[in-house]
Amino acid sequence: MRGQKLLSPKLAIRLIFLLLPLAVWSCKKKEVANPAPDVTLKSVAPFPVGAAINPWLLKSNFNYYGRVATEYNSVTTENVLKFDFVEPQQNQFDFSEGDTILNFAKARHMRVHGHNLIWHNALALPDWVINFSGNTAAWEALFKNHIETEVAHYKGQIASWDVVNEAIRDDNGAIRNLDVNPGDGSIWRRNLGPDYIARAFQYAHEADPNALLFYNDYGQEWNSIKLDSMIALVTGLKARGVPISGIGMQCHIDINMSQANFKIALQKLAATGLLIHISELDISVNPGNDPNITYNYTLQLQQTNMYQYVVQTYKNTVPKAQQYGITTWNVGDADSWIPGFFKRKDWPLPFDSLYRPKNCYNGYLNGLKN
Ligand code: XIL
Repeated sequence: MRGQKLLSPKLAIRLIFLLLPLAVWSCKKKEVANPAPDVTLKSVAPFPVGAAINPWLLKSNFNYYGRVATEYNSVTTENVLKFDFVEPQQNQFDFSEGDTILNFAKARHMRVHGHNLIWHNALALPDWVINFSGNTAAWEALFKNHIETEVAHYKGQIASWDVVNEAIRDDNGAIRNLDVNPGDGSIWRRNLGPDYIARAFQYAHEADPNALLFYNDYGQEWNSIKLDSMIALVTGLKARGVPISGIGMQCHIDINMSQANFKIALQKLAATGLLIHISELDISVNPGNDPNITYNYTLQLQQTNMYQYVVQTYKNTVPKAQQYGITTWNVGDADSWIPGFFKRKDWPLPFDSLYRPKNCYNGYLNGLKN
């Protein structure tokens, strides 16, 4: 027995040939079984990361649904909690689509940020409000009733609200009042007086004392007059004991944004001591509306660098305790509001039209890590 070989060389070679296809097949099987990347935005983010979402895409597009569920731990209601959706007729409330988002988020332990309670923009005002002709007391009653009913419906479920959206003028930093450009004034300020902002926060707080309440606006990174006026507004509210918890910096920016001004804005906002939410981030590659533009490598690289800069600067400039998180406005280029709203070609988001990560997704990830 001792001298007998277990395997002759000939048999060994045969065996190798027999087993080779099996080995190749088993490796391939592994690749197919684990195609998903194990790194996601939320897995590396030291603060909540989110997107503004819409319930119809959640219900109809599996790629969209999957991407939101895997990448994010916070969602903002893009349109369905705006005034015209929630109260299309006076005192007739419709929370059905807000509830769709809430139930999706609840099942996944995601934070929900409610957007928004009070906005001057006619895009979100129902006709009955635009045409309302009551006296001051009647205006106050409809304003109070709207805020209280909406916040009370989601009491204990919606973590935070944009209570007042975009109340400050671009040209001189004053509170919007009379129309500057048609449609640009505020129906709320005109009918309720300048202190409507403070009362909106008070009514929201009474309806849900645990909800965090934000003032949300745009332009901090390019308009220093507006930035300073916003800071004066929120510090004034805070000093009077109005229940404001944070500031939303929308950040609808583009690849040419001044990084120096962005950083100054973040520093000034953080100095208020309030929570800071980058609340509506998207980075346009076609701010000049070039109809012949292609989404070439140079633009992708600039966008990737800008995503990284914004995320990294937020992470390293805003004190940890004030980092409420970063939210992009929409999920992928197919559902971005930019191309439709501004009628131009653009690709502003970290995911493409099939919800696959783009180059700038890596910029976002690197910003979170560095
Ligand atoms: C936008 C939505 O994304 C669009 O679908 C809608 O047609 C108009 O409003 N600032 C805001 C958001 O605070 O509410 C806006 O959302 C984008 C700009």
